[in-house]
Amino acid sequence: MNIAILSSSVVQKALIALSGLFLFAFLLFHLAGNLLLFDTPGRYNQLAQELEAWGWLFHGLELTLLVAFITHVWLTIAIRRQQKKFLPKHTHVRHKNAWAGNWAVNVTSRLMTISGSLILGFLIIHLQQFRFHPGERNLEALVAQLFHNPAWVAVYELALLPIGLHVAHGFGSSLQSLGFGHEQITPWLPRLSQILSVILILGYALIPLAIYWQIR
Ligand code: HEM
Repeated sequence: MNIAILSSSVVQKALIALSGLFLFAFLLFHLAGNLLLFDTPGRYNQLAQELEAWGWLFHGLELTLLVAFITHVWLTIAIRRQQKKFLPKHTHVRHKNAWAGNWAVNVTSRLMTISGSLILGFLIIHLQQFRFHPGERNLEALVAQLFHNPAWVAVYELALLPIGLHVAHGFGSSLQSLGFGHEQITPWLPRLSQILSVILILGYALIPLAIYWQIR
């Protein structure tokens, strides 16, 4: 493997990590915003209007989100292709400092491509339902209407599984790729990733269920 390929794959990994962490930050902000559904009626729509009022800044953030998503997916496919090309079949790469024992080759790691594809499928449906929904932009009413249907509650709950798996591996893996690995920190990264993933998923999981059972 020549050094040019190696160095570019290091850059690619760093970009995958950075875009992944940006998407993770979006997930946290999006959850915080969505939890306003449990605030006083109207507060959720008010937030949406406030964000829209940011004008070009809001649309710039949306564009950055899209660029981060495309970068993340594109470079991941590119790296996978390079690995397939340069490594003999059935070869598992074990890095000298493979973090936390066999974590790098555990279940969540192996499922990254599948979980990523399922997330993409979910996003296409989700954006069509909310972001590009035709007609009046009463998001609060749209969300309430959707989650009164048990089938959609089930779809959203199930979609959280690949998202949770992806974050459970991706968060720690991103920090590792960006060089934050350290003898003392590295062993804790998997646990930290898993805890953050569980918090995120429980937060999102609560919303459809609470609306369906009219707890809000
Ligand atoms: C209970 C769960 C969720 C609810 C109620 C919800 C609600 C919404 C709503 C109402 C919008 C439209 C916002 C607007 O037009 O201003 C939106 C946009 C969006 N959602 Fe969600 N969402 C949920 C979960 C998720 C998850 C798990 C993801 C990621 C995997 C996600 C990713 C997005 C993205 C990327 C946008 C577009 C953001 C933008 O362009 O402003 N959402 N969501």
